[in-house]
Amino acid sequence: MTMFILLALCLVAPTVAAAQSLAPAGWDAGLKLTEPPDLNPDPKVVEINLTARLAEVEVAPGKRVQAWTYDGGLPGPLIKTRVGDRLIVHFKNELKEPTTVHWHGVRVPIEMDGVPGISQPEVKQGESFTYDFVLRDAGLYWYHPHVMSAAQVGFGLYGALLVEDPDDAVGVSDQVTLVLSDISFDAKGQLEPADSGGSAGMVFGREGDYVLVNGKHRPVLKARPGAPQRWRVVNAAKSRFFYLDLEGQPFTVIGADGGLQERPEVTDLLLVTPGERVDLIVAPRGQAGTPLILRATLYNRGYGSVQYRAVEDVLSVEFTNQPPVVAPPVRVSRSIAPATIEGATVVNVDLTLPPMQNGQSEFRVNGVPFWKAKPFVARLGERQLWTIKNDSDWDHPFHLHGFFFQVIDDQGQPVRPLALKDTVNVPMKKTVRLLVNFDERPGEWMFHCHILDHADGGLMGTVLVGDVKASGHVHVKPPR
Ligand code: C2O
Ligand code: CU
Repeated sequence: MTMFILLALCLVAPTVAAAQSLAPAGWDAGLKLTEPPDLNPDPKVVEINLTARLAEVEVAPGKRVQAWTYDGGLPGPLIKTRVGDRLIVHFKNELKEPTTVHWHGVRVPIEMDGVPGISQPEVKQGESFTYDFVLRDAGLYWYHPHVMSAAQVGFGLYGALLVEDPDDAVGVSDQVTLVLSDISFDAKGQLEPADSGGSAGMVFGREGDYVLVNGKHRPVLKARPGAPQRWRVVNAAKSRFFYLDLEGQPFTVIGADGGLQERPEVTDLLLVTPGERVDLIVAPRGQAGTPLILRATLYNRGYGSVQYRAVEDVLSVEFTNQPPVVAPPVRVSRSIAPATIEGATVVNVDLTLPPMQNGQSEFRVNGVPFWKAKPFVARLGERQLWTIKNDSDWDHPFHLHGFFFQVIDDQGQPVRPLALKDTVNVPMKKTVRLLVNFDERPGEWMFHCHILDHADGGLMGTVLVGDVKASGHVHVKPPR
């Protein structure tokens, strides 16, 4: 009898080597991202054109919007490279508004960081700028403007930059990049104005009505039951948090913002805040005819965000009727030197939202909004422990340009599993510490909340690394 059950199990659920492709043909066709042609024959150089322009895109059958796009698509093209490659991007702006391209998370030289007034002039209508840098770290990164960011990202300007390590030993060949976002538009396909809801809209952080994955509302991904898939996920929404739930099935997290983490961690609820990336192995189980739904479940990121929000379907996984497989557990690891706080300079970063004045609200860092702030300073090679205290009633996904950091717990130890981060959520009324080593690349680097409405609402600053002069750059106080 036991023999019979064992035999039956073997027949139904063969264990497989994950390295072989197990996904059904066309499994990711519902959310395939375009890839730009590489104009450079050198295998170590990826050279592309990228144009910002208006385009009509369809996010669901019959649902069209005049979006702001890179190369006419929503999101922009998936730029695929390998670690160590040089990336050259000939960027052209065909929008009426000035813009730039910021390479979120990439350790670029300051001249390539895409911040107007600091690293480059704004790229005005009809103008071009060439970005040119080496990709030193494997991982999933992304690109977006740094001019009126809340508006421009909310209107559709974002795309993924995947830096692969061919030797990463993850061994799951069915891989898909998932760009999560949202957008709002009316029946005529006109974008919702970036200042909708006024100051209250800024404080809440404007979320779009349509939740998108790779520019599609509720797309379909196909799967063979039990077969592992590698999902490279970025939250490119300007304000929305994605608290992911695959009907309780586990996510095996293997990497974070700056590539693979120390060891995998299994969870069945996964928070991805704006700007963050996660590298996941998912082996969805189910049957043909009964799709499994990936949902964004409720997460309280501030007053009203639970009361006034609904659970959203993000994508559905549809199963083939192939026999299910059982994949071996994922065992990929990476050695990361644990950060130590000994000898680090303590830097206090207090985030506040004082009561409105004259019907206007502004977020403040150490008592001042960005347009009144003086830069922080760091010597080249200085290690700093940033103690970010959030006194406001809102969560803030805190992002630092140009450098990875490790998150430090209450005991002064780095959070395990060790991971390299560039964006970390600082929950309301909580303190989060991070250890960053300003070891190279002098320059004026930005930090800000990646709820881009909050950033534009004052929650932004810069740090002068090394012997450099402050640019005196202030973002214009945006209209509310
Ligand atoms: Cu995605 Cu200034 O950041
Ligand atoms: Cu914020």
